[in-house]
Amino acid sequence: MTAADIPGAAAAAAARSLSVRGLHAGYGEVLVLRGVDIDVREAAITAVLGANGAGKSTLMQVLAGLIAPSAGQITLAGKPIGATPTHQRVASGIVLVPEGRKVFPELTVRENLMLGAVTPHARPGRDAMMAQVCTLFPRLQERMEQAGGTLSGGEQQMLALGRGLMARPNVLLLDEPTLGLAPAIARQIFRIVPRLRAMGITVLIAEQDLHRTLKIADHAYVLENGVVVAQGAGRDLERDPAVRRAYLGHD
Ligand SMILES: Nc1ncnc2c1ncn2[C@@H]1O[C@H](COP(=O)(O)OP(=O)(O)O)[C@@H](O)[C@H]1O
Ligand SMILES: [Mg+2]
Repeated sequence: MTAADIPGAAAAAAARSLSVRGLHAGYGEVLVLRGVDIDVREAAITAVLGANGAGKSTLMQVLAGLIAPSAGQITLAGKPIGATPTHQRVASGIVLVPEGRKVFPELTVRENLMLGAVTPHARPGRDAMMAQVCTLFPRLQERMEQAGGTLSGGEQQMLALGRGLMARPNVLLLDEPTLGLAPAIARQIFRIVPRLRAMGITVLIAEQDLHRTLKIADHAYVLENGVVVAQGAGRDLERDPAVRRAYLGHD
């Protein structure tokens, strides 16, 4: 059964996997997110775009349960999860691939991947997911027994993505997966993301690369100073004066 088969409100709730309303969050006295509303649709790619410092990583960490919001609601398929601890969110399928990859340099590629699958939710499907990760990232398969720290930046990003997949995500939060990567490697990462959607995974991707991200995203939000200043899809959003301002600091 698909969302289209479910009548009325249930269909709306199912199609709106993660929903964020009036979200405020920050660090101590410093408020970063100031009333963010976002809908992440099921089995689609939703993007959060914005310049450096806009609040993208703060949002991702709030959604993963690593930072507590000071106000607002977060729901998953209609159920509030704002107070749910991180490990329970992982168990319900919300998995963060953090900015800066964060692979364990001393552990092998295989060990790093296996760490993604330690939850009771993920363990039964571990071998099948490992096979899928190897299909998506042949480079990782070739380097399975190599230490994570010896991989190139792009390979480490593939490893971080692979580890996230090993947790069997329903909603994958990708925080700037192309940050600091050479253009050719960034293109490879952008080619992988639609394949995750084809696997039925709901993706929320934070990026600075407006043009490339809009080519793969079904819907995008533009964040400026912790506020959504524009939303939409494709070229219309790229031409929006509010988006140009958010990126360039002027109209
Ligand atoms: N750990 C922290 N403590 C205090 N301020 C932080 C911390 N992390 C980020 N910030 C601040 O929050 C704002 C948003 O940062 P961030 O969410 O990382 O933005 P982005 O991911 O869009 O670059 C910035 O002004 C940044 O300096
Ligand atoms: Mg960031």
